[in-house]
Amino acid sequence: MRILVIGASGMLGTDLQKEWTQDEIIPAGSRDADIRDAEQVRALVSRNRPDWIVLAAAYTDVDGSERNPELAFAVNGQGTENVARAAKEFGARLFYISTDYLYDGTSTRPYEPTDAIAPLNVYGQSKAAGEKAVHMYAQDWCIARTSWLFGAAGASFPEKILRAAETRPELTVVADQVGSPTFTRDLAGAMRDLVRGEARGVLNVTNAGSCSWFEFAQEVLRQAGRGAVRVSPITTAQAARLAKRPAYSVLSPASLHAQHITLRSWQDATKAYLQDLRACGKLV
Ligand SMILES: NC(=O)c1ccc[n+]([C@@H]2O[C@H](COP(=O)([O-])OP(=O)(O)OC[C@H]3O[C@@H](n4cnc5c(N)ncnc54)[C@H](OP(=O)(O)O)[C@@H]3O)[C@@H](O)[C@H]2O)c1
Repeated sequence: MRILVIGASGMLGTDLQKEWTQDEIIPAGSRDADIRDAEQVRALVSRNRPDWIVLAAAYTDVDGSERNPELAFAVNGQGTENVARAAKEFGARLFYISTDYLYDGTSTRPYEPTDAIAPLNVYGQSKAAGEKAVHMYAQDWCIARTSWLFGAAGASFPEKILRAAETRPELTVVADQVGSPTFTRDLAGAMRDLVRGEARGVLNVTNAGSCSWFEFAQEVLRQAGRGAVRVSPITTAQAARLAKRPAYSVLSPASLHAQHITLRSWQDATKAYLQDLRACGKLV
């Protein structure tokens, strides 16, 4: 199969290229096509004639989306519509990556793909617009909702914690938001298996288990041998971030298990991530 990966230079896109070795992967970055431009997207898809398009490109700055909602909607909403339309025109199937930030966080149990969405922030709203575009304009598609991505190819939360620990004796981390950290290599492998297994519809794909950002930071530091660094819990209100975030955005693994895929725990994934960081010299 020919798989066109749009967003190949991103954190997930980089790991998709590493994990997906069984098919012909065609990587595309924003230099190959700005997804906001329908003609550029059409030309890219027409040139490559893929069996599947994996749309891993997005404007992912959650606080930046509050400052610049036009950009968030142009990339995540209109950009997705452009890709969905081109996929349909050239007979490609579309795999879209979505987010736990679709939810308002008031649930008391893990979210199922069928639960009502009510995004609290512009980023979540723009990704919801992306999902809607997939439903409306693509013919044959799969949507994977995921959360709290971390991987060696991006400056994700654990790397920021490790960097901060180098210079600060004490860190403060939000303890009243709970979700499922997800390693981009594990997500990439699951996406490959879902495509090869002909999955369709909306699915949740995260590492197993859940924690707060505070607990995630503690685990990263402990596993990296920096357990002596003091981490103190703070509230979301104390963190004073621009975008609202859901207090609870754990995604149920039931839809993934139904595809006979189970991902390892976020703690085991953290161990593998730290090995990757060491291998690329980002951690000694
Ligand atoms: N990060 C998270 O915690 C998280 C959580 C849930 C879901 N997700 C979703 O997972 C997916 C991957 O996220 P990520 O963190 O790996 O992303 P990322 O590292 O921020 O990479 C974003 C990618 O999008 C591309 N891009 C941005 N604007 C573009 C445009 N106008 N045209 C074409 N390409 C454009 C970038 O290309 P250039 O580098 O060439 O600009 C880059 O390859 C996204 O759909 C995101 O919404 C992320």
